Order: sequence, then structure tokens, then C-alpha cells
Amino acid sequence: MKDLINAAINARKFSYSPYSHFEVGAALMCSDGTVYTGCNVENAAYGPSNCAERTAIFKAVSEGKRDFVRIAIVGGEKGQSVAPTPCGVCRQVMSEFCSQDFEIVMAKSEDDYEVMTLGELLPRGFEL
Ligand code: THU
Repeated sequence: MKDLINAAINARKFSYSPYSHFEVGAALMCSDGTVYTGCNVENAAYGPSNCAERTAIFKAVSEGKRDFVRIAIVGGEKGQSVAPTPCGVCRQVMSEFCSQDFEIVMAKSEDDYEVMTLGELLPRGFEL
């Protein structure tokens, strides 16, 4: 858990967030033990911005991974640390690939975090 949170903390350093100044990092653990990281990438038009969680998930899926165990998320304004909860869009993206027991680790630091499942954070997500 600590390693995954530290990977998210490191990914946060690459956050491109000149508009919100809210820097987010995520680290996604695959069932084969590999880890994909991501940061939020904002855009002057706002709408095309991407959250850290989706960056990590899309990186993993684009390299053939679809089986995920948990994701760690860290973030905050520069020099601060809150434990971000994933936005609704990211929860829906998670639900495309992850089971209800997928773990979402919302961390302030490697010792201060809360774990909730996707089933808890997105009950009755849309499915076809
Ligand atoms: N953001 C994330 O990357 N992940 C979250 O869980 C919450 C929000 C980003 C989107 C935007 O770049 C900034 O944080 C402020 O909303």
C-alpha cells in the first residue's frame, strides 16, 4: 500500500494544472503486479482536461492491461495534501474495467489514507 501511495505522490509531481492549481497523482495496481501512474492534465478550454485516475487507467488499457486491483490517489494545491475522492466520470471509467470490490485508496500520505470500494463509491453505475 505504501509503495502504491508513494508512486501516486511521485506522479503528482508531473501534474499539469495551471488553471485549477490542484495537483493530482494516481497509481494503478494491475493484477499482474505492474503499476501504471498518471497525473491530471488540464487544458485552456477546460473540457479536454483529464484526471489523474483516467490518465493511469488509459495508459494501462492502452498497453493491454484490463485487470486491476486498486488505485491510489493523492492531491491538493501546491504544498498541501488532501485525500481526493474520484470524480463521477472517473468512477464510471473504473466501472468499465473493475469489479465492485476494486479498491480506491484516497491518501493524504503513505500513513494517512482511506480505502473504499468502487461498489461503495459508484452503486448502480451504468452498464450495457
Ligand atoms: N482531479 C483529478 O485529477 N482527480 C480527482 O480525483 C479529482 C479532480 C483534477 C481535475 C482538475 O485538473 C483538478 O483536479 C481540479 O478539479
